[in-house]
Amino acid sequence: MFKILDQIGTHRRKSDFEDLLILLNQLHQFTIEHFAREEGSMRASNYPKLNEHREQHHSIQRELNETLRQVANGSIPVPKFSQEIKEGYNHHFKRDDLLFMAWQQERETNQVLTRSS
Ligand SMILES: [Fe+2]
Repeated sequence: MFKILDQIGTHRRKSDFEDLLILLNQLHQFTIEHFAREEGSMRASNYPKLNEHREQHHSIQRELNETLRQVANGSIPVPKFSQEIKEGYNHHFKRDDLLFMAWQQERETNQVLTRSS
């Protein structure tokens, strides 16, 4: 996702609009797939904050869709878009995804301790 964002960030909109649209579509598709995989993993492990997390994904997706439209019609400069999306993803990762990873790790540790006692 960040590789695509880097490519988008260095893209100059006027140089090749078709290339930019391809990258924006890739970002959109990759985001959907990434969120679906992550939610699948949360569902499989009965993560208690799945619904809350899924709602955050929906919110990010709605915001991304709106921003993609603005980039495509030229009302947001491409580098600014790339930077803001990166910050948004980083924020979600550091706040919410890491919470899930920590919960998952603690759960696995407890299972190991339960088995060994
Ligand atoms: Fe997430």
